[in-house]
Amino acid sequence: MKTLVFATNNPHKLEEIQNILSGKIRIRSLSEINCPEDIPETADTLEENALMKARFVKENYGYDCFADDTGLEVEALNDAPGVYSARYAGEARSFQANKEKLLKEMQGKDNRKARFRTVIALILNEKEYVFEGLVNGFITKEERGSEGFGYDPLFVPDGYEQTFAELGNDIKNTISHRALAGKKLATFLFTQ
Ligand code: IMP
Repeated sequence: MKTLVFATNNPHKLEEIQNILSGKIRIRSLSEINCPEDIPETADTLEENALMKARFVKENYGYDCFADDTGLEVEALNDAPGVYSARYAGEARSFQANKEKLLKEMQGKDNRKARFRTVIALILNEKEYVFEGLVNGFITKEERGSEGFGYDPLFVPDGYEQTFAELGNDIKNTISHRALAGKKLATFLFTQ
């Protein structure tokens, strides 16, 4: 079975992508290749950040690899927090502080349209590929729901009335930005 490193140790992401690859491709996490580093994500775009992480693994550990980066892009905030979603309220990377800052920035805004965008960068046989998944929706006026993580309690995907945090992981993982990018990755890998 083909094996690929996924440049993350996030158990939610590992499980979600492993399910999408439906046992046809074995995934190894960063800890499984004994990579203890916090890989730098210092670029200005999701694409460059994802490529940066995948290249880091390839260059330092020699493995074919894929990496993801996700941002929440809010129309009324000129696509902020975007690539800075994790650090929106500061380097502490607090989900709670990030959500509070977003609600504050959105106070009084009528246009609440937003989208989650995930980019997955793959390095396979010396070539680089990029896959994108996005989900459109809107930002709520208060937090709703307790599942998921990050901005999930503030985001209602188009076609639904509940936030990602209310919908729960089973539904979220079939319609999410990361799932859509992962499905594109899977379709590509299955035809290699
Ligand atoms: P990451 O670097 O891809 O893990 O994502 C950057 C930041 O975006 C995270 O710290 C979260 O704040 C946010 N984020 C990423 N994916 C999701 C999601 O599926 N739901 C809610 N927030 C997310």
